[in-house]
Amino acid sequence: MLKDRNLIAPSDFSLEELDEVLSLAERIVQDPSAYAEACKGKILASLFYEPSTRTKFSFDAAMLRLGGSTLGFSDPNTSSTAKGETVADSARTVSQYADVIVVRHPKEGTAKLMSRYAECPVINAGDGGHHHPTQTLTDLLTMRHYKGGFDGLTVGVCGDLKFGRTIHSLVTCLARYQNVRFLFISPEELSMPAFVIEELRAKGVPFAETDDLEASISQLDVLYMSRVQRERFISEEEYLRLKDYFILTADKMALAKPDMIVMHPLPRVNEIATEVDKDPRAAYFAQVKFGMYVRMALIMKLLGIEEPQA
Ligand code: CP
Repeated sequence: MLKDRNLIAPSDFSLEELDEVLSLAERIVQDPSAYAEACKGKILASLFYEPSTRTKFSFDAAMLRLGGSTLGFSDPNTSSTAKGETVADSARTVSQYADVIVVRHPKEGTAKLMSRYAECPVINAGDGGHHHPTQTLTDLLTMRHYKGGFDGLTVGVCGDLKFGRTIHSLVTCLARYQNVRFLFISPEELSMPAFVIEELRAKGVPFAETDDLEASISQLDVLYMSRVQRERFISEEEYLRLKDYFILTADKMALAKPDMIVMHPLPRVNEIATEVDKDPRAAYFAQVKFGMYVRMALIMKLLGIEEPQA
């Protein structure tokens, strides 16, 4: 096992390592049963201090489909957190039982902190408004499937760019590839934070900012929609004012390229009308399934599991 290897932000993996994980995930998609015993005897612990459907269950499903087992909590009040145990002590403790820890926490930096104390690899399943690297793996696998790669793509990112951790991880990761251009579509109040903008400027990555989805959708190869993150707002009034700023409808889809894809990390609230679900360009539920396969590949990589021989 590679204790030194954690996944806290996408930048923890080189482009070659990202390609290894994505390529392994593609091989798993082709023949999942060949990997059914790859993690036999291994245990994944998932510690979710914040709600989740996709990330929690896709990690559980990934480990179970690899022949391993899972333990953990989705409500920290059922653990000794409720008695005042620190996350550092929890990480130390749980790593005595498990081979890999997956953690989601509302506070930025918690996964990194836990990785310093755990005696097994730690995977960040979302830390506050900061990063969500396994959603990025999911997103990259989805783009490779539909677009064949990233070269030459114009990626529109729409919604809550300020608090959207999936967006911060995806944009900073895609910026490491050649020839990707971004269009950031948000109200000014929810615009991309400085740490992302500065990184793009430093790398010379082309981007533009707008608050007009309708006027810009025709330029896009990928439209990445996002939910306005109610849980990160200080003011409920401000959230209510901004929550329906963008709603993707069939009328707006009519303005887009015939091969543009729509992605969304989910959960969705109002930002994509359900009428769009039947559009063949809607990729967000396929994205969910790719999330499980790419997490299977990630678990194998972090545990140093050899690929089963054919
Ligand atoms: N995409 C994502 O992180 O979904 P969950 O919050 O349901 O895990």
